[in-house]
This record gives sequence, structure tokens and C-alpha cells, in this order.
Amino acid sequence: MPPTVTTHPPLFGPATAVARIEAASRRTQQPQSKGDLVSLAMGEPDFDTPPQVTEAAHASLRAGRTHYSPLRGEPALRDALAEKLTGIAGAPVSAADILITQGGTAGLSAAILGMVDPGDKVVVPDPTYSLYADLVAMAGGTVVPVPLGPDLHWDLDRLADALTDAKLFVFCNPVNPTGIVHSREELTALADLLDGTATIVISDEAYSDLDYTGRPFTSAISIDGLRERTVYCQTFSKSYAMTGWRVGYLWGPPSLIDAAARIHNTFNGSVNTVIQDAALVAVRSCDEDVARMRAAYVERGEIMRRELAAVPGLTLSAAEGAFYQFPRYDVDLPSVDVVAALRAHGVAVRPGSEFGAAGEGHLRLSYAAGPQAITEGVRRLADGLAALR
Ligand SMILES: Cc1ncc(COP(=O)(O)O)c(C=O)c1O
Repeated sequence: MPPTVTTHPPLFGPATAVARIEAASRRTQQPQSKGDLVSLAMGEPDFDTPPQVTEAAHASLRAGRTHYSPLRGEPALRDALAEKLTGIAGAPVSAADILITQGGTAGLSAAILGMVDPGDKVVVPDPTYSLYADLVAMAGGTVVPVPLGPDLHWDLDRLADALTDAKLFVFCNPVNPTGIVHSREELTALADLLDGTATIVISDEAYSDLDYTGRPFTSAISIDGLRERTVYCQTFSKSYAMTGWRVGYLWGPPSLIDAAARIHNTFNGSVNTVIQDAALVAVRSCDEDVARMRAAYVERGEIMRRELAAVPGLTLSAAEGAFYQFPRYDVDLPSVDVVAALRAHGVAVRPGSEFGAAGEGHLRLSYAAGPQAITEGVRRLADGLAALR
């Protein structure tokens, strides 16, 4: 008798949401840094958190602030943010509609999972910050990427077509990875496109303090026609050099914030009490620090552009905001291969395709790194590209 072979289903398998994220995700894991590598890959300020913020966290711990915070966040922090947002929106913002989140990541997650049902159409610019598509896939929605115009701003005709019947439009401003800033006119055009529709908007303004256009930054929530349909997503990570603290917030229409709060409370519970106490000090007393770091990014951006301008075969992006350059290169290779080759030359950057199919042919360089790293990194990039020709 031949032996009977019994097959068993695998004991442990991931949920289908994991497979959906893996299928949709363009995010690349940065390999472990080895030896002498200059990194222009990270969207991470190299500044220390302002000392008064760190001191506030110490003081909060010493005061025994080690218990659960209210689920929507510390009232004092939400009040301070409501005041700040009232100024930004030019309309009253109630602290009741602010949700403190575990960084921008959890804010975006709560907002997207709180409003996207399986099959819902979600429009995103292409390229854009790569987390949005992964979250939509997790929720079972369908991502519709809309390629940008040649100037890396929105192509409004394409956007108008794509937005038909969309549940949601998600974008960031200033933009990771392109470093451009959407103007008041563009945002007003978006409001006009959405007039009369039920499409919701998420405006991720993580880099709003880093606008170098010379005009005042326009938040989506300051635009009539967008404010009523927009969830505003913010983080302390970039403006205050607080990436490791994991704190951010959402504001928007009460029904959408209630939905996001339900998801956030289910996933995260409340945000660390001590961290919120420190965040309150950041809101109240760090304007000069924000301005100081912003001035440094302006200088670093200029250094990067000057160095890159001398590299043959690169077309630079406009330096409007955030801390990214998104040059187009002329070598006939996919950006992941170019990035791998550049790594072998000692410089880490990110492939444009990580941010969407239309990002192919570009590299993303961060000037959140210091001036020396920028100069040396671009020198290595020039050598690496020359070797590929
Ligand atoms: C556009 C954008 N939104 C949100 C985030 C996430 O920020 P956080 O560190 O607060 O999770 C990032 C981080 O790179 C980002 O670039």
C-alpha cells in the first residue's frame, strides 16, 4: 500500500489585508547601512528636538504624568491646536473636532480606515507619499493614481476625470517626494472640481512650515469649498524635528473625526501623556526653532541644487517646499537599479518609482541631511551616474 499523504492547510497564515498591502506597496526597505555610506534617503531632520520640548517631557515624567490620557488627547493640547488651526483656517475650529494621533502615520491610517470601504475609489496624485496607497489597499479600496503635469503640479483635466465618483482624494502639500507646493489657485481649482460631489479630501500638511515659494502657505482648510469636506492631517515630526516622538493630529468634519477616532482608539488607545505635554510646549514656544530649521533647509536646498546643477543628465525639480529634490535622470534604467548602483558608489537615495509609476525616471534626494553630507553625497551620485553611462 502506498503511504497516504494528507495535506494540511498551513497552520499560520496572514490575513488577506496583508497580501493586499504587499501587492499594492511600492515602499522599499532601506538596506542596513554598511561602511562609508552617505544617506540622502531619509525624510528625517538631522536637528535635535528643541531643548524646551525635551525638558517638558522630563518635567512631565517627574510630575508623575504616567497615566492614560483621554482617548481623543490632552484637553490643553487640543485647545492650543484649535487656536492655531482657527488662525490657519480663518474660521472657528473646535477642540472637540481635534484628534491627537500616534504621529502622522496613525492619523492617516485612522482617517483612511475610518472612511474607505472595500471597493471604494480613492484618487491619489502620482507620484505621492507612498503610505496612502498601502492604507487604501489595507481597507480594500481601489487606488486610482493620477499622473502629474510636466511641472510636477496637478494635471487638472486628468484629475477632473479621475475624481468622478471618487470616495476620497488624498494628497500632501508641500509634496513628498517632489518638493513642490500647491498654490491657493490650485487648491481653489480643486474645490471647484469637487463642488456638488460627495468626495472627501485628506490634506496631509506634514511639511506646511517648509514653504520656500515666498508666498504665504495655503492650507486646504483655508479654502471655502474644501474646508467642509477635508480631513486635515498634521504631525510634529518635521516642523519640530520630533520624528521619534510619534505625535500628530487630525481635524475635520465631526462625522469623519468620530470615525477616525473610533479606528485610532481601537488600534492605539490613547497617545502617551508625557509626549502630549511636550507637544504642547512645541506648539506654544517653538516658533523661533521652526524658523531656524527652515532657514537651514533653505540653505541646504540651495547647496543641493548648486551641486546637482553641475551633474550632467539631471533635470532638477523646482525648490518650492519640504526638503526634497526630485531630479529626472537621463540614464535608460529603472530607478531601483540606479539607486542600487549609486549605493555601490556610497550614496543612498530613493527610487522615484517608490512614489508611483509616474515617478519612474526620477530619484528622490533629501536635504534634511547636513551640508557636508549633501556635498559629498552629490559628488558620489555624479560618479555613480557617470559610471552608468
Ligand atoms: C507627507 C508625509 N506625511 C506623513 C508622514 C508621516 O509622518 P510621521 O513621522 O508623523 O508618522 C511623512 C513622513 O515621511 C510624510 O512625508
